[in-house]
Amino acid sequence: MTNINWDQIHQEAIGAMKNAYAPYSKFPVGVAALVSDGRIATGCNVENASYGVGLCAECGLVSNLISTGGGRLIAVVCVDGQGNYLAPCGRCRQLLFEHGGPEALLMTDDGPQKMSAMLPWAFGPDDLDRNER
Ligand code: THU
Repeated sequence: MTNINWDQIHQEAIGAMKNAYAPYSKFPVGVAALVSDGRIATGCNVENASYGVGLCAECGLVSNLISTGGGRLIAVVCVDGQGNYLAPCGRCRQLLFEHGGPEALLMTDDGPQKMSAMLPWAFGPDDLDRNER
């Protein structure tokens, strides 16, 4: 994968954000990612009257990724309600790490950052493989 059209991914993230269901926080989030086969997966946050049950946008992204055929996350853009880049919460960094690995890129205000920088010393699938189960 050579060419990453960051503007296209950003626009897809904004489109997903507009579908967010965030009546409680009033903080819509959208996320989009270029997948290893070239398609784009998206997600938005989906809140719940039982606040703790709400789903982050990245949860939706991963569900969309897997339910549309899987693959690896190559380049991810997460946005807030203004379309500005948003740094994913810690749990969501773990989700992105699982499906993109340390080399996946996440757009930030400082430009694209590797997941290995966004989630240093990450626990991941390799750690499970290092132990006998
Ligand atoms: N949120 C996300 O969707 N992703 C993140 O990485 C950070 C937070 C959502 C959860 C909640 O619906 C709202 O933003 C406010 O925290």
